[in-house]
Amino acid sequence: MRVLAIETSCDDTSVAIVCEDRRVLICQSANQDLAHEPFGGIVPEVASRNHTSTLMPLIDQVLKKSGLTSQDLSGITVTARPGLIGSLLVGVVTAKTLAAAWNLPLIGVNHIEGHLLAPFLIDDEFAAPSGFDFPYVGLAVSGGHSHLFLVSGVGRYQILGATVDDAAGEAFDKFAKMLGLGFPGGAAVDRLAKTGDANRFTFPRAMLKEDNLNFSFSGLKTAAQLILNRLEASERREMASDLCASFQEAVVDVLVQKLERAAQKTGLKRVVLTGGVSANSRLRVKALQLQERGYQVVIPPLRYCTDNAAMIGWVGVEKLRLGQIAGQDLAPSAQAHQDDYLQ
Ligand code: KG4
Ligand code: ZN
Repeated sequence: MRVLAIETSCDDTSVAIVCEDRRVLICQSANQDLAHEPFGGIVPEVASRNHTSTLMPLIDQVLKKSGLTSQDLSGITVTARPGLIGSLLVGVVTAKTLAAAWNLPLIGVNHIEGHLLAPFLIDDEFAAPSGFDFPYVGLAVSGGHSHLFLVSGVGRYQILGATVDDAAGEAFDKFAKMLGLGFPGGAAVDRLAKTGDANRFTFPRAMLKEDNLNFSFSGLKTAAQLILNRLEASERREMASDLCASFQEAVVDVLVQKLERAAQKTGLKRVVLTGGVSANSRLRVKALQLQERGYQVVIPPLRYCTDNAAMIGWVGVEKLRLGQIAGQDLAPSAQAHQDDYLQ
């Protein structure tokens, strides 16, 4: 079994072929950062236009590079929700057209589900530790989502907590913007933080005292603005590393503490970190420290943590096996469906 996977839910166009044995045969992505950078954020209209011009050539390229034709495929799988509706539309319409033209089954996938199952992917450089399996606690953190899930099987995801306002990546990006570090700025904050003093400035750790697994990052923005307002432009530049380190520590602290709490609450000793923010070096270090307290911590390689089609391909394989085929009426949706998650 081999599926062709398409991911266009936000600003990355990605195409992959994933096999029944979890192997990623090929995964190619086109990043749109340069197109959105001048606007200081993702412009939905620009994102969908870019998908429109990039997707078909990328599919051609993936098929050529893999040496496969449509006859070697068992299905077409596509991210159908949640995401930017115009972006999703491009992927879904393309997938429907190819499925009809090539007479292949069509599978619609929830994007977050892809992030959560990414640790099962295998390639020449990555495989999860042997014995890795359900159930586990999954923390999916990116520019668009910050969710804690109990993942107990394919299609069995229970939301344990979520952000009540900004996503973690969004918080990094907004802070980076305030410091003039460009967009998306998460990686720049991480880089500067490496040489900074995380105790120099005090940022709030929101919702840590509350007995739930939700996050809130919008207060950090206000705190950052207040701190920056007190500094001269030259001081901001001089103290940029300390500002970044202090800010980053606050975000990471909350993410890791809530991750551990989720594990305690569910009694699970296995946790997965995924999504673009898992690129953060401090988050990786602190999450991996959970191993010292007896947790198995799995962080897929970055290529499968940031938005990518391989993760959508693996969910597609699982769904195809389960006979969960979509019809030509598959419709993209900006929101997840209620029955995507267990209540
Ligand atoms: O998963 P992703 O590639 O796209 C979606 O948002 O779905 O995540 C991108 C997010 C951006 O907000 C970016 O600033 C953040 O991940 N990010 C980071 C780092 N690298 C990327 N945030 C903190 N530290 C990083 N090293
Ligand atoms: Zn994502």
